[in-house]
Amino acid sequence: MMLKDRVAVVTGAGRGIGRSMALLMAKEGAKVVVNDLGGAEDGTGSDQAVATQVVKEITDAGGEAVDNFDTVATWEGGHNIIKTAIDNFGKIDILVNNAGVLRDRMIFNMTEEEWDGVMEVHMKGTFDCTRAASNYMKQQKYGRVINFSSTSGILGNYGQSNYGAAKLGIVGFTRNCALDMQRYGVTFNAIAPFAWTRLIGTIPERTEEDKQRLEKIKRMDPGHIAPLVTYLASEEAGEISGQVFGVRAKEIILFSLPRPVRTIHRAEGWDPQSIADVIPGAMADSFSPLVTTADIFPYEPLV
Ligand SMILES: NC(=O)c1ccc[n+]([C@@H]2O[C@H](COP(=O)([O-])OP(=O)(O)OC[C@H]3O[C@@H](n4cnc5c(N)ncnc54)[C@H](O)[C@@H]3O)[C@@H](O)[C@H]2O)c1
Repeated sequence: MMLKDRVAVVTGAGRGIGRSMALLMAKEGAKVVVNDLGGAEDGTGSDQAVATQVVKEITDAGGEAVDNFDTVATWEGGHNIIKTAIDNFGKIDILVNNAGVLRDRMIFNMTEEEWDGVMEVHMKGTFDCTRAASNYMKQQKYGRVINFSSTSGILGNYGQSNYGAAKLGIVGFTRNCALDMQRYGVTFNAIAPFAWTRLIGTIPERTEEDKQRLEKIKRMDPGHIAPLVTYLASEEAGEISGQVFGVRAKEIILFSLPRPVRTIHRAEGWDPQSIADVIPGAMADSFSPLVTTADIFPYEPLV
């Protein structure tokens, strides 16, 4: 019972990774707000049955849960989701910002709607719920926030400039919030998961690399993500904040974060030509190569 008497909000908990986390957290003793708009993979539409079904699964197993159908993508929605925890369970200890959509398109074809739709759910949705929860957590001097990032942002992927930007933005958000809330006993961490869900099923298999990557992901159960998130949501993980973890089936990964790798200095300052003269020799061997997730994880997952 690692989360006994804790109150957790899991956004996008009606399906996939979110559902598994809600089920495990409830099993570990948390009272859970199961939020899900219940829309399609691209965020359109809604269906309340998606969240309600997970609440039923939790209560059938003897746990406590309540549903919420708001979108994370608005200020009102985010506040209402957190209010659902306060109204039903009296507090909020744990927030898992997991809700997500995909609208993949190569940058030269991407529409404004495809950009905005992804940024609103991931980037703004993470802010909306965190902002609403942060005052309660600050006052009670306790909180655990776990935000969902992706290797599409940390490393790169084709056709996901909107999603990758939002997901790396979430890493920046996580680390800055970790600083803001450190003195109040609130931790923030990010997860880059790998799991076969309907969301990943929408990624087009354009290249041989895409195909290979998706074949590997198809063997990864979303349930593998929940134990690490549940641990990070527990009192025991109080010393861990501002970190980015990956979970790839039975493998748990700690990601590095950018640090300066080379610096150059010139007493007279720089002009374009002096930069052109120096950079290739002084820095080029340390440039970050353009990679996809498949390049960094070429080996088979332990399923
Ligand atoms: N599955 C993977 O391999 C993978 C990889 C990297 C990142 N992620 C991230 O993990 C998270 C969970 O994704 P998943 O794979 O379980 O997908 P999923 O589609 O199975 O679940 C996402 C859930 O979020 C809900 N949702 C979408 N927009 C919402 C909104 N505005 N408000 C409330 N709920 C909303 C959906 O209805 C859905 O039930 C996402 O943030 C995703 O970007 C997943």
